[in-house]
Parts: sequence; C-alpha cells; structure tokens
Amino acid sequence: MSPAQPIDVRDMKIVHETFRRMYAETAGLLRANPSPSPERVAFLADHIDFGISMLHHHHESEDDLLYPLLVERVPERADAVRHVEQQHQEVTGGIDAVSAACSGWRAAPTAENGTALADRLDHLNAILQPHLDDEEQQIVPLAAVTLTQEEWEEMGEHSRSYIPKDRMAVAFGMLLEPLDDDDRAHMKSALPFPVRLLYPILIQRPWDAYARKLRQGT
Ligand SMILES: [Fe+2]
Ligand SMILES: [Fe+2]
Repeated sequence: MSPAQPIDVRDMKIVHETFRRMYAETAGLLRANPSPSPERVAFLADHIDFGISMLHHHHESEDDLLYPLLVERVPERADAVRHVEQQHQEVTGGIDAVSAACSGWRAAPTAENGTALADRLDHLNAILQPHLDDEEQQIVPLAAVTLTQEEWEEMGEHSRSYIPKDRMAVAFGMLLEPLDDDDRAHMKSALPFPVRLLYPILIQRPWDAYARKLRQGT
C-alpha cells in the first residue's frame, strides 16, 4: 500500500504558517485599539470568525481523511496519531472559546470584551503551536510514505471546499504572504492557468487591500 517514493506533503507546513501567525496578530490588533469604530468591529470580528473556521476545517479534514488512514496502515505508530488527535480536541476547546468571545465582542464591543477576546486568541495560539510542531515532525513525514498523492490532495480539497467564494482571494493571498519564492511558486502552480495569469488582479490586489484594512484600519 505504501508508495515507493515519499509523496509531496509540503503544503501542510505552508498552511500551518498562516495559522502560526494570524491569531497572535489579531490579538495585537485588538489590544492596539480598544475603542474601534462599528465598521472596524464588524471587519475584525468577521476576520476572526473566518480565521477560526479555516482552522476548524483544516483539523476536520485531518480527523476524517488523514489520521484514520495512518492508524489503519501503520498501527505501530497509532500512539503518535492519538497524541495529535488529542491535541485537536484541546484546540477545538480553544476555537470554541474564541468563537464565544468574538460573538460577545461583536454584540458589545467594550474594551473589556476586546481584552477577553484577545486573551482567548492568545490562548488558542499557545495551544496550537505545539500541535503544529508535533504534526509536522511526527505525522507529516509518516503520511509522506503512507498515503498516495491523491489521498493527500483530497484533504486540501476538503478544507478549501469550505472557503466561501468571496473569501477565496483573501484566503489565498493570506496563505502566500509569509512564503519564500520557492513555496510561493509551488502554491501558485496548483492554480488553474487563467487564475495564474490574472493573479495580480484576482488575488494579489484584493489581498493587499484587505491586508491594509486589517493592519491600518481603525
Ligand atoms: Fe495540519
Ligand atoms: Fe492538525
């Protein structure tokens, strides 16, 4: 069942890079402006809800399409898989806490509720980082010699299928932002040709505008 050559699994680390940054960044933005305008509250609350839904669906795709295959095919590594599965449960608690704090802040954007939301984002960030480390070090190399490329790609497709169409450009721009040239070229190569051709207009421009609003908006 194992492929002869390891499959290409580099997109996992690439996607994790966004998760590694976004919750701490958003907590910082909340603390930097305790009295935001109503438009700013709506924008940031939408950004946070989107950020945690991306993580939720990323984990769901691993729970459904990655971990069970590893346990089935490499039962001697089941303990390592169970370890990251348990981390997912802990992260789910962190996501739920952010979600509740975010809807509280959206409804009543007081400085106190803003601080509570920033604290929940920091907590999510703190429990998430070790999970991403463990998954990249223990699970991804195992998947590379256990899954077929097709099975691996299915996971990415599952996560992407939950991104609303009007958020696709922002999601892709956000994913590509922290990458080096090589990883960026790799991710772009997966796009359909017309999107690649019109990348500056279809993705870069909307992402730049969104990122400016995120980081400089009031
Ligand atoms: Fe992951
Ligand atoms: Fe994970």
